[in-house]
Amino acid sequence: MSAIFQNYARYPLTFVKGEGARLTDENGRVFLDFGCGISVVNLGHSHPHVTKAIQEQAATLIHTSNLYRNPLQEQLADRLSRCGFGGDVFFCNSGAEANEAALKLARIYTNKKYDGKRSRVLTLQNSFHGRTYMTLSATGQEKVKKGFEPIMECFTHIRGGDFGSFLNEVKKGDVGAVILEIVQGEGGLEMLPRDYLVEVSEYCAKYDILLILDEIQTGFGRTGDIFAYKHYGITPDIMTLAKGIANGVPMGAVMAKHEVAEYLSAGTHGSTFGGNYLACAAAHAVLDVMTEKGFMLQVREKGDWFLGKLAEIFHQTEVTVHGTALMSGVKVPGRQKEFIENCMKNGLIVIPAGNDVVRIYPPLTVTYEELEEGLALIRKSASEMGIGD
Ligand SMILES: Cc1ncc(COP(=O)(O)O)c(C=O)c1O
Repeated sequence: MSAIFQNYARYPLTFVKGEGARLTDENGRVFLDFGCGISVVNLGHSHPHVTKAIQEQAATLIHTSNLYRNPLQEQLADRLSRCGFGGDVFFCNSGAEANEAALKLARIYTNKKYDGKRSRVLTLQNSFHGRTYMTLSATGQEKVKKGFEPIMECFTHIRGGDFGSFLNEVKKGDVGAVILEIVQGEGGLEMLPRDYLVEVSEYCAKYDILLILDEIQTGFGRTGDIFAYKHYGITPDIMTLAKGIANGVPMGAVMAKHEVAEYLSAGTHGSTFGGNYLACAAAHAVLDVMTEKGFMLQVREKGDWFLGKLAEIFHQTEVTVHGTALMSGVKVPGRQKEFIENCMKNGLIVIPAGNDVVRIYPPLTVTYEELEEGLALIRKSASEMGIGD
């Protein structure tokens, strides 16, 4: 047995090569990958433009630390800022680190402005924000916190979509920030209603409560726009990013409005690796592709088509179809594990979420032929379980 920690329940599969929407295992069997490493490899495996950028950068300069200026990082911040809401950007290495930084930023902002009287943060039941102490405390899912008590007490978990319960909490006067996922990825593809998002956003703006959007899973195209908030006509004060940002090279980022970001002054926060040359080169290459004219439109079109076909397969069954664009999935009550393993047996990789949901996340570069192939494997896997048409 390997000396490795046993903190993951891994599937008995070993992949040795990836290309586009395909993964090859150690026995040479080829799988269709509709998981994308949990929404990380959004441009597909070994994307030629990203691979070239990584290869060239690796041969030039990988890392210098944040002791020195890094033009690739500055340019990337500017590009992301233009794609987003014009905020300033901090780079780190993962989603949890991005949320950790965002929550620290919210804390220092409210401490300085409100003399330590607004330290409470609202988060949603069933949410997932990461595994560091601060972010697991922010997380709504009990299973993530179990055994790690005492949990940080500054978080209150409210019901998503229920503006009344938001109001009940903020009226107590000690709330400084709210952190939300527009679509809960790990939580099972729960989507927040538009009215709720708009109401929360307007209230936050009026009373200077920081609206933090966790776009770690929704960001970089999954919902058919570069960031999910763009579909709703709202603007966060802080947004967190990771996963798809560099197509598999570890990177996280926080974007914050300048008047908020400036509270993290020199020496208050940092990361040794954050935004190094290699990760920045990969992220630039991702943005080159994702900002090409028509790229997001084709994601939305494929997503709508795919969701429609999924609904056809599962109409008149207990299985329900969830999600938006290529952030799609099905709820298979009580049979999630069986469904995933059956798909795997048939050559399709899909991933769990919550207790009953199976996430189906094709690469954003997937072809209609590959989507058809995936649908056929889903239909076959379901019908072998006695569900579907
Ligand atoms: C919405 C959301 N936030 C935060 C995280 C944590 O990201 P990481 O695993 O990179 O720390 C995840 C990971 O699944 C996530 O989906």
